[in-house]
Amino acid sequence: MRAQELAGKKGVRILAIESSCDETAASVVEDGRRVISHAMYSQIKIHEKYGGVVPEIASRKHIEKLPYVVEEALSAAGMTIADADALAVTYGPGLVGALLTGVSYAKAAAYAAKKPLIAVNHIEGHIAANYITYPELEPPFVCLVVSGGHTEIVVTEDYGKYRLLGTTRDDAAGEAFDKVARVLGLNYPGGPNLERLAKDGDKDKYALPKSFRGETHLDFSFSGIKTAVINLVHGMEQRGEEFSPADVAASFQKTVTEELIKNTMIAAEREGIKKIAIAGGVSANGALRTLAAKEAEKRGFDLFIPKFEYCTDNAAMIGAAAYYSLKNGAAPLDLNAEPSLEL
Ligand SMILES: Nc1ncnc2c1ncn2[C@@H]1O[C@H](COP(=O)(O)OP(=O)(O)OP(=O)(O)O)[C@@H](O)[C@H]1O
Ligand SMILES: [Mg+2]
Repeated sequence: MRAQELAGKKGVRILAIESSCDETAASVVEDGRRVISHAMYSQIKIHEKYGGVVPEIASRKHIEKLPYVVEEALSAAGMTIADADALAVTYGPGLVGALLTGVSYAKAAAYAAKKPLIAVNHIEGHIAANYITYPELEPPFVCLVVSGGHTEIVVTEDYGKYRLLGTTRDDAAGEAFDKVARVLGLNYPGGPNLERLAKDGDKDKYALPKSFRGETHLDFSFSGIKTAVINLVHGMEQRGEEFSPADVAASFQKTVTEELIKNTMIAAEREGIKKIAIAGGVSANGALRTLAAKEAEKRGFDLFIPKFEYCTDNAAMIGAAAYYSLKNGAAPLDLNAEPSLEL
């Protein structure tokens, strides 16, 4: 069946593929809301020793693992590719080589199986992770997208229709977590390791800079706090001062999460929208989740945050977003990777 004919139908099963960074993932999702199966090969262990993702290694691993991961997702769903109604793939944003492996694989598989291929924006996928966790969630809602490469506040006005309210002017929040974690001697990926360290720390020990005091826009900046932490740590080390890395981690995490949630609450108040969602890898952060819950409750907002396993990169979120893109039709077979694709 053609993609447009599947739009809005019930019982539509999409086989989705995600390979934009260092997770090789495949999933079968029904009607954009129900995960039938989910398979993933994480490359974290491979990239850990380099302190970050090495793009060439990531691409080569995707090529090696994709066929197995797709097979695992299909067999866990009790299906073959012939039983899928459509295929979906992340075509951007992300690492160009990594994206190309998934796009090439998906184009070939869709062509061979005579299925429509849906091209999915990875960030739209992160937002759609909320549809899996909350089958009742419908637009409009305000969404804070916080990941390794993005920090944005958007209004999801309708499925596939977004309006940008604020964005980072420099580093993404996840990137700042990763860089600060590195200065504190933690392994990649820094975010979860920094969170673990921060648990035993005093979050009020260090006053760190916040961004744009006195201005009315909803943009973010995290390079100032990142530099402040680097200078703080290096200064204490050079002076031979004893300090607790846990206190630094906790103070950094508190400052960043407060900035993120403050702007998000202002955005929802200004827009008069009472539903707030959070999406992307940093939404796995416990301090962020707790603060968001507290501030949302205070204002009578409903809060939506994906289940932990759907916060960071995964293919289920791509399958969810793809269902709502069916109406736009299938991607052409000359579909290319778009590393800088925007929402
Ligand atoms: N518990 C956590 N606390 C803070 N940050 C976290 C946590 N878990 C993951 N992160 C951060 O989330 C980021 C990874 O998220 P994600 O996989 O969504 O990013 P990405 O796919 O690399 O980037 P993008 O989605 O913008 O293309 C990393 O920067 C990581 O450190
Ligand atoms: Mg991501």
